[in-house]
Amino acid sequence: MKYANFPGTDITASRLGFGCMRLPVKNEEGNPIDRPEAIRLIRTAIDEGVTYVDTAYGYHGGDSERLVGEALQDGYREKVTLTTKLPLWKVEKTEDMEALLDEQLKKLRVDHVDFYLAHAVNGERFDQVVRLGLLDFMDDMQKKGKIRYPGFSFHDNAEIFRRVIDSYPWKLAQVQMNILDENHQATMKGIEYAAGKGIGIVIMEPLRGGALTRNVPQTVKDLYAAMPVKRSEAEWAFRYLYDRPEVVTILSGMSAYEQVKDNLRIFAEADPGCATEEEKQLFKDVRSAYEARVRVGCTGCEYCQPCPQEIRIPDIFRGYDNAAVFDNFAPFYERYMKERMAAKCAKCGACESACPQHISIRDWLETIDKEAVANCTK
Ligand SMILES: NC(=O)c1ccc[n+]([C@@H]2O[C@H](COP(=O)([O-])OP(=O)(O)OC[C@H]3O[C@@H](n4cnc5c(N)ncnc54)[C@H](OP(=O)(O)O)[C@@H]3O)[C@@H](O)[C@H]2O)c1
Repeated sequence: MKYANFPGTDITASRLGFGCMRLPVKNEEGNPIDRPEAIRLIRTAIDEGVTYVDTAYGYHGGDSERLVGEALQDGYREKVTLTTKLPLWKVEKTEDMEALLDEQLKKLRVDHVDFYLAHAVNGERFDQVVRLGLLDFMDDMQKKGKIRYPGFSFHDNAEIFRRVIDSYPWKLAQVQMNILDENHQATMKGIEYAAGKGIGIVIMEPLRGGALTRNVPQTVKDLYAAMPVKRSEAEWAFRYLYDRPEVVTILSGMSAYEQVKDNLRIFAEADPGCATEEEKQLFKDVRSAYEARVRVGCTGCEYCQPCPQEIRIPDIFRGYDNAAVFDNFAPFYERYMKERMAAKCAKCGACESACPQHISIRDWLETIDKEAVANCTK
């Protein structure tokens, strides 16, 4: 295992972190966590060098924190940096924040956490909780010793990311990044900006929730196969990230023992700056190969909104393109068929005159609707 320091803190953490959002579950109603197996996975990872554990109020319907509390008994708490997150969407008034943190500490069976993150920050949500005193709350909780360092996890665009970074002396920013997302959400440029300000970067969704290892297109397989050193898709995806000196820890949501063992093996080599020029070119080529599979190419700018028929055009196109990139249409069709939004199109064309990408929106909505109907009635 390789380790890195969080700038401006006394915390050194393993470059592989355990993300407790996808713990193994039992095949029963409600998919409860398979507790003995989840504890075995977490403790195996810690025994073999993982020192960073990430959970949140909402994971596994609220049970992830409780499970992590169980797993970190018997001396395991002292071996890890423990992070959990404030569910911003549950904060209606100032006092809610400390009440939520107290509830979380109880579930985790600890008197403090090492990092406490504002969870899933976006521009609108951030402004709301800042008005309710989020930043003073972070200061107060550090003084009271309930949290050691403040941070946030993020899902919005690069401009908002910079605004949040500049708003407070955060010690950690948790962002979605992987081979495909270099120019999405916080963006790699945003990560460099945050790191330049002394903020430690933690990566989430390094395998795009596992999608980068499933239904891998032949064009991508060919690119990997042409490399002199053979690595699995997961290994290449992690390598793209651990190569980056800005990245302290990469979270993996490991749901099986084999994944824990595999990732421990992969992170034995996780040195920043390890990728060769040929490998950096590979990462670019892989991204292009995936991007070539995009069909509609909606950028989600929302200029087409609102639609007079209230069709959420960007949501439909994003879901459809994502299905095309990973050749996995069934979940998209199933979701889409619940409301058949595209079928409501009155073909007024207001969206097309607003679309900066000049997408033939009406034709695409018709195509998607026809495909979904054909595939769901088979
Ligand atoms: N704060 C936020 O807003 C937020 C959002 C998302 C995630 N997170 C945190 O970030 C963590 C990481 O994100 P993530 O869970 O989406 O990570 P991820 O690594 O992108 O996806 C995890 C999935 O990848 C697959 N996988 C893992 N190791 C593998 C291997 N060696 N070979 C093949 N497949 C492998 C597994 O999928 P299968 O089991 O399906 O094969 C696993 O469930 C989460 O667990 C959570 O703690 C936070």
